[in-house]
Amino acid sequence: MRAPLKGLILSGGKGTRLRPITHTSAKQLVPVANTPVLFYGIRAMAEAGIHEIGIIIAPETGEEIRAAAGDGERFGVRLTYIVQDQPAGLAHAVLTAEPFLRDSPFVMYLGDNLLQGGIADLVQAFDRDEPDALILLTPVPDPEHYGVAELHDGSVVRLVEKPAQPQTDLALVGVYMFRASIHAAARAIEPSARGELEITDAIQRLVDVGRRVEPHIVRGWWKDTGRLEDMLAANRLVLDTIEPSVQGELVDSQVDGRVVIEPGARLERSTVRGPAVVGAGARLTDCYIGPYTAIGEGCVIRNAEVEHSILLSGSIVHDLAGRMESSLLGRNVRIGRDTRQPRAYRFLVGDNSEIAIL
Ligand code: TTP
Repeated sequence: MRAPLKGLILSGGKGTRLRPITHTSAKQLVPVANTPVLFYGIRAMAEAGIHEIGIIIAPETGEEIRAAAGDGERFGVRLTYIVQDQPAGLAHAVLTAEPFLRDSPFVMYLGDNLLQGGIADLVQAFDRDEPDALILLTPVPDPEHYGVAELHDGSVVRLVEKPAQPQTDLALVGVYMFRASIHAAARAIEPSARGELEITDAIQRLVDVGRRVEPHIVRGWWKDTGRLEDMLAANRLVLDTIEPSVQGELVDSQVDGRVVIEPGARLERSTVRGPAVVGAGARLTDCYIGPYTAIGEGCVIRNAEVEHSILLSGSIVHDLAGRMESSLLGRNVRIGRDTRQPRAYRFLVGDNSEIAIL
């Protein structure tokens, strides 16, 4: 009997590009359309019939991820948490998970990635063609920023991490399918110049020892949410697909287009122009919420305009003279006009924060 397919989601890492959010929280839990990025990956696996999923976590942010995703029951899967003691690379994460994966074939999914259309067709291709590894690729305009793959006769012949002179525009998407042969390949490689065991090197090793590595070109969109602009782009793409529903209370307010108002939210003298989502228990008074905005649970917005932004839970925004846009606010952030004397800007801001004023 063939070993069943398992899942491996990578939710460790440093998240330096999303500081300061990642000083206090895991980037895989930043919400896209009010749902943590990580949950989209878990759901994609569940929909593809994968029920045994290992989640790689870092010692610092692991507990928060464990608390958010739990045992997986609500997704219809079983989650096993695997601590990676240091973020030593994607291939290091695979080796860390070896006792969980054993000799099973598996899908590896980067926990901060989003893939439209799920992974069911990928799993099907892997079962049908039985390659040693299947890697997802997509054409990108700036391949020098990605791991890229060179193909020959329908197979992958070379992988290069962030090449200065890319020979192809096919970037590696953060979803891969492997068999147990990847463990020996990951053990055979050395850390790269940035000190990580690179998955591209491990896959190259598979190619070098004569294993069959096949490409699978992604048809829909793919987003790596590792940076602010990618996070906002992912939010736009997902908000464009939400089912409108108004469960909160509207008082002298209106919603236009694709809008979700979650239960317990209350809008007074406000307008929400979708696509947008307003989280449970949020309070919006004398506001305009513009397209591509996700307002987290319990946020309070008063006398302000917000557009193309993500607000995590419990933030307060009030009395702004200009519209706020393209912003990402962490939890319990307060931004507002202050009428105290002397008139001045007053900030209490953590490391690596960014503020742009009018
Ligand atoms: P990256 O975004 O490539 O790395 P990072 O999280 O360290 O971020 P940054 O470059 O901003 O510092 O990682 C992709 C995914 O894989 C992400 O969900 C984190 C996870 N990961 C691990 O679980 N273990 C690791 O050793 C590494 C490098 C990443």
